[in-house]
Amino acid sequence: MKTEVRKSIEGYSQIAHELEICRKYGIDYTAQKGRWKAAVERLHPKRLQLRVAKIIPETPTASTLRLVPVSGYLPPFQAGQYINLFAEINGVRTGRPYSISSPPNQIAYYDITVRRVPDGFVSSYLLDQVKVGDILESTGPAGQFYYNPLIHGKDLVFLAGGSGITPFMSMIREATDRMLDRKIHLIYGCRTPQDAIFHNELLSLAADYSNFSYDLVISEPDSSYEGLTGFIDGNLILSRIGSVEGKTFFICGPQEMYDFTIPELKKLGVPDRRIRREVFGLPKQVYNDPAWPQEVSPQAVFKVKLSSGREISARADEPLLVSLERAGITVENCCRSGECSLCRVKLLKGQVFHARTAKLRQSDHQAGYIHSCAAYPISDVEILL
Ligand SMILES: Cc1cc2nc3c(=O)[nH]c(=O)nc-3n(C[C@H](O)[C@H](O)[C@H](O)COP(=O)(O)OP(=O)(O)OC[C@H]3O[C@@H](n4cnc5c(N)ncnc54)[C@H](O)[C@@H]3O)c2cc1C
Ligand code: FES
Repeated sequence: MKTEVRKSIEGYSQIAHELEICRKYGIDYTAQKGRWKAAVERLHPKRLQLRVAKIIPETPTASTLRLVPVSGYLPPFQAGQYINLFAEINGVRTGRPYSISSPPNQIAYYDITVRRVPDGFVSSYLLDQVKVGDILESTGPAGQFYYNPLIHGKDLVFLAGGSGITPFMSMIREATDRMLDRKIHLIYGCRTPQDAIFHNELLSLAADYSNFSYDLVISEPDSSYEGLTGFIDGNLILSRIGSVEGKTFFICGPQEMYDFTIPELKKLGVPDRRIRREVFGLPKQVYNDPAWPQEVSPQAVFKVKLSSGREISARADEPLLVSLERAGITVENCCRSGECSLCRVKLLKGQVFHARTAKLRQSDHQAGYIHSCAAYPISDVEILL
């Protein structure tokens, strides 16, 4: 570029002057080229290669997989976040999100704790087939379910159900390991005492730390059980925490738990801004949603036409993402709960039913995008893919 032209660019002479100073004192910023990109990739990698270092049995139906990086370091995360673990099983490449149950203050490994889902596709694979030394691929840590000291105050109540204990375990371990200035009361609902993951560790943390207390609530006790029983309703919550005043509630568990406990908290006068909930997958039987179109049978099978011209079949009761994966078509995905938008595809024709937990942006809705992980076909459809 000619010197006269350069000089006409606003700010050019100041930059030229700074460059002159840099050269004079031996500072060469061009040497920094690419460093910011490397730093961003280290903090937010698209994929991680993880080696299974240890398998820790927790309950008859749950085990912890301790995952270490194949090379380099693990990115930092916030207690409460998850990774989406990918696997190829019987020729189908799919992914499932698992919350990190280890605390973020130790960075040598991520623990994920997997509970068996009867006939579960990926949970059975992880629990029955994966061995120490195997390498798994995942996304980097993701998710919005974590404590924010600016908003959530210092008095926290965690309501966990089943495997929904995992993000809380990371938060509790971090708060106790680091003696953080916050009070935590965990109320953990399980079907039977044998289902309670981390029970002994939680008991011992509650005994050792005055700012952590723990209640286990069993919904299907046998006659000899002497602890708390029933569901986590308003009365039980109040009887354990005294008052809801100034407390922030975090909930993680199956969909039915949200449907039950959120109205209970509201009855106690807890405002919406004091209730935080994790996405923990999609409803098992989406067609039981009152908004499901009654004329569409859950067993119906529809045609899905892709922009390449290829046609596949999709069941009404399965998310479109699952039908695509079954047909060997991969779509980027992370939360598989309708929240992160990564699995977005454009719907060109036809209709889908979005699970009510899906969070579709207004602009996506207007532009015809759907979240394939949470969208169920209710007619033949055509998508841009
Ligand atoms: C943010 C988040 C964190 C989570 N954290 C944990 C955790 O810490 N611990 C834990 O145990 N669980 C956790 N889960 C649940 C976990 O992601 C899985 O949903 C659970 O392990 C069940 O998966 P599954 O494949 O075994 O069950 P399935 O019921 O087999 O799978 C669920 C989905 O997979 C589909 N599917 C079934 N068969 C196939 C197939 N052949 N090909 C492709 N798809 C198929 C089903 O239609 C269904 O939509 C978390 C979920 C979320 C959203
Ligand atoms: S994978 Fe997150 S919205 Fe679908």
